[in-house]
Amino acid sequence: MSRITAKAYAKLNLSLDVTGTRPDGYHEMCMLMQSVDLCDEVKINLTRTGEIRVRTNFRFLPSDGRNIAVKAARAFFDVLGEKDLGADITLKKRIPVCAGLGGGSSDAAAVLRALNRMLGAKLSPERLEELGRGLGSDVPFCIRGGTQLAEGRGDELRILPALPDCVFVICKPPFSVSTPELFRHVDERRGHTHPDTEGMLEAIERGELRGVTQRLYNVFEDVPGRHRGAAAEIKSRMLDLGAMGTAMSGTGPSVFGVFENMEQAEAARKALSQRWRDCFAACPAAPEL
Ligand code: C5P
Repeated sequence: MSRITAKAYAKLNLSLDVTGTRPDGYHEMCMLMQSVDLCDEVKINLTRTGEIRVRTNFRFLPSDGRNIAVKAARAFFDVLGEKDLGADITLKKRIPVCAGLGGGSSDAAAVLRALNRMLGAKLSPERLEELGRGLGSDVPFCIRGGTQLAEGRGDELRILPALPDCVFVICKPPFSVSTPELFRHVDERRGHTHPDTEGMLEAIERGELRGVTQRLYNVFEDVPGRHRGAAAEIKSRMLDLGAMGTAMSGTGPSVFGVFENMEQAEAARKALSQRWRDCFAACPAAPEL
């Protein structure tokens, strides 16, 4: 197989908690994560040039070794010890970047999965996650996606039962948030609110959507900044439009609401898109390995 087209699904944080700092400079996280079918399309053409190139429809993204998709392919070829292998990668980006939706991490994970399949390398999912760890904290989750508990740096994973049927409406305000700033604020804050991760975990295990949507919460939502006002406005509008619950995803600024069915979600997406350009409706999904 010398050509493949793979899907790279966006991720949402159903809950996000920062529980401490780590000796490696990163933070201890506790997150319930979900992948959804809003996706980038990743096309790979294997070559024997030893070069890895990437083209994308978002012209501001780097097309050289700084692109995480290129780093992923390089890491994979290095593990196989194949110096002659190369790849032409085409990324059709649909997931907004710097949005808290894990777009880059998911592209990297899709490259690792696709190369593993194309080359019949038979690396286990755990091995692919290990490779992903070197590329970014969210990459290991994106290898298997679905519904997972992520702890440690975000790379200690536990696979959970699939979420009951529902539809997410995702809305991304047109600015980005500084990740180090968010962590700094959380570090300086004492006694802040934490999500009820245990309660949400039990609800997921029992397949009770209401128990999940009542507990959606991300500690970064309360950090002062431009995203806080935008998130509050979007969340309130989503609730008016019938959302069962809402939260900000990752380091923001994207906000999502959970709806019972596509009809309600599509109506909400349409209403929100009058005010916010980047609005999507998406269902829970998990990539094929
Ligand atoms: O691993 P990744 O490149 O996605 O992380 C981006 C930044 O987010 C890190 O440089 C760090 O500032 C912060 N981070 C953290 N603790 C984590 C994950 C990310 O402090 N568990």
